[in-house]
Amino acid sequence: MASLSLKNLNKIYDNNVQAVFDFNLDVEDGELIVLVGPSGCGKSTTLRMVAGLEDITTGQLIIDGKDVTRMPPKDRDIAMVFQNYALYAHMTVYENMAFSLTLRKENPLVIHEKVMAAAEILGLTDQLNKKPRQLSGGQRQRVAMGRAIVRKPKVFLFDEPLSNLDAKLRGATRREILLLHKRLGATMLYVTHDQTEALTLADRIVCMSMGYVQQVGTPLELYDNPANVFVASFIGLPPMNFFDATVGEDKLTLEGGVNVPLTDSERESLSAYAGKTVTLGVRPENIELGEDAQLVVTNCENLGYNTLVHGHINGHKTTAKLRGWFEYKQGDVVGVSFARKHFFDKKTTNAIR
Ligand SMILES: Nc1ncnc2c1ncn2[C@@H]1O[C@H](COP(=O)(O)OP(=O)(O)OP(=O)(O)O)[C@@H](O)[C@H]1O
Ligand SMILES: [Mg+2]
Repeated sequence: MASLSLKNLNKIYDNNVQAVFDFNLDVEDGELIVLVGPSGCGKSTTLRMVAGLEDITTGQLIIDGKDVTRMPPKDRDIAMVFQNYALYAHMTVYENMAFSLTLRKENPLVIHEKVMAAAEILGLTDQLNKKPRQLSGGQRQRVAMGRAIVRKPKVFLFDEPLSNLDAKLRGATRREILLLHKRLGATMLYVTHDQTEALTLADRIVCMSMGYVQQVGTPLELYDNPANVFVASFIGLPPMNFFDATVGEDKLTLEGGVNVPLTDSERESLSAYAGKTVTLGVRPENIELGEDAQLVVTNCENLGYNTLVHGHINGHKTTAKLRGWFEYKQGDVVGVSFARKHFFDKKTTNAIR
């Protein structure tokens, strides 16, 4: 396995589109890094530069201390698993998994051992004589992973490997990848646009927008201390609510005149913003029954243990996730408080700490 260092990576495509700006990341041996962000933010481009499938325009890629920036893909000792498994239809599962080793003309006995070991790890032992079309989507995805495992690469790259699976299978396969990661102790870079996958899989998340890294940190760091409005709105589901709020002596005044009290530590962190307008962020799960503001209900969604209450506070669209079962009707007014507040500079959108 290997450590990985991406230094000031930039990618400008032939049509002069710059897809990635100044990407910096040090990946430790055995770490599982998830690149997350909306469509077109540069996740696949970054992964493909690591794989060697795209030229690195400027910057440096180091694998295990060795500069591989201009090295062809086949010499980088990296395995990539794609969204569309790209299995050979005319080959059996066994042949698909053995393919890269056969190509390398490895000893057939060694190949057999490696394929059987990978099949065991992935629960594919009974499927080895089948053709890909005889398998479910989840099984095909596992064969694609098996093909990567047999090569014992230094680094595994995954580009949205679960997006062709239905929701239930996605959850199960996600847990399998996590177990696989633990079992192999492998260094992995994993791309997804799904914040849930990022939170549940990652040792560290890299959150991207429009070609730029917005924040790097553990799932908890990104959830609890998002660096800016983009990360705050992207991580967490349902997304964080945002309000314009003017900072007063000991309270915030939301647009439209609702006053929300500030704790001592909140006042302290806002001391440089007295009299100014900031962006207040409140997660739906941090809204509880109380007396700070009035939530006018549009509709409710009962999730069993929780209820999502959609509506508005002074005309501002707001979603609350209340613990318990509530059956509010349209037009009901619910008193709420904000148990945890996030503050952002209105101009820079950066978090105020
Ligand atoms: N071969 C190419 N030539 C020119 N521009 C490209 C090429 N491939 C990607 N792009 C552009 O680069 C940007 C980043 O694309 P990329 O595929 O890395 O995004 P992504 O984050 O993987 O998105 P998605 O979630 O949709 O897969 C986009 O604006 C895209 O249009
Ligand atoms: Mg992509």
